[in-house]
Amino acid sequence: MTITVTPITVIPRHPALGAEIRGVDMRRPLDAATVQAVSDAWMKHLVLVFPDQRITDQEHVGFTRHFGEPEIFHQTSLHLRSDRVKEIFLVSNVDDQDRLLAPSAPSQKQLSSSRMWHTDSSYRPTPSIGSLLHGIEISRTGGITQFINMYRVYDDLPDSLRRQVEGRRARHDFSMLHRLVGSPPPTPAEQAAMPPVWHPMVRRHPVTGARSLYVSSIYNDAVEGLDEAAARKLIEDLSEFAAQPQYMYRHVWEPDDVLMWDNRCTVHAVTPHDPGERRVMHRTTIVGTEPVLV
Ligand code: OGA
Ligand code: MN
Repeated sequence: MTITVTPITVIPRHPALGAEIRGVDMRRPLDAATVQAVSDAWMKHLVLVFPDQRITDQEHVGFTRHFGEPEIFHQTSLHLRSDRVKEIFLVSNVDDQDRLLAPSAPSQKQLSSSRMWHTDSSYRPTPSIGSLLHGIEISRTGGITQFINMYRVYDDLPDSLRRQVEGRRARHDFSMLHRLVGSPPPTPAEQAAMPPVWHPMVRRHPVTGARSLYVSSIYNDAVEGLDEAAARKLIEDLSEFAAQPQYMYRHVWEPDDVLMWDNRCTVHAVTPHDPGERRVMHRTTIVGTEPVLV
């Protein structure tokens, strides 16, 4: 009898979420048993850290395809989508000519929104499953990416907040970004491609079946039954409650780390860094295949 021994090693990095994975080479296709083992670890730890992955963009996209279809970012006006590999979203402060961009550059303003708690592509009718971020040139002065386990946040919500989210929906609008950070508005075509959507504030995970809080503070521009100020206050109160150390893994980057996170049950935010320091990261985003479950 042949016994298949899955070669991966899983080392938790924080009690709430985040685990390091050893024994995966993203440059090679994975066998089915390894894909399953990675998926299982992902559902358990929510954020996976794969150190030492010297991958090309093509290999990054190839690895992503084991877990779903890579998203192609709908906005082209700010050049956050790679021209070379269209599935790559550029989290970078360097332009095509390798020049450092000022914080006032439109793309940098828009990227600065990721310092606030959010989950990627929540403004889509079927929001993203997960994202994979490759640290190519990493920051040593900040640029720490922080993640929160939103299952635990939901479980621990005080009654005053729980009452306000149960059975309620929030709106997610891509156009909220420019109102928030003063980046250029999306073009009319980009706006037409991404009309605002309503999602439940408490969602059930399609794989684990567990419930989590689902808010995305950079996209949430309205909450059912509340005026604008009350909606903003609720999203801020929820984000503040979530951002406690017992729910948070803070990732300090090393070159060629690849992080893979679940957008359905986590939020993330990056800390500021010295804008004179280069920071180049490439992201893929896995397309959602179903509406948000309640
Ligand atoms: C992202 C993001 C985090 C970072 O890529 O989705 O929010 O560390 N960036 O820059
Ligand atoms: Mn993000």
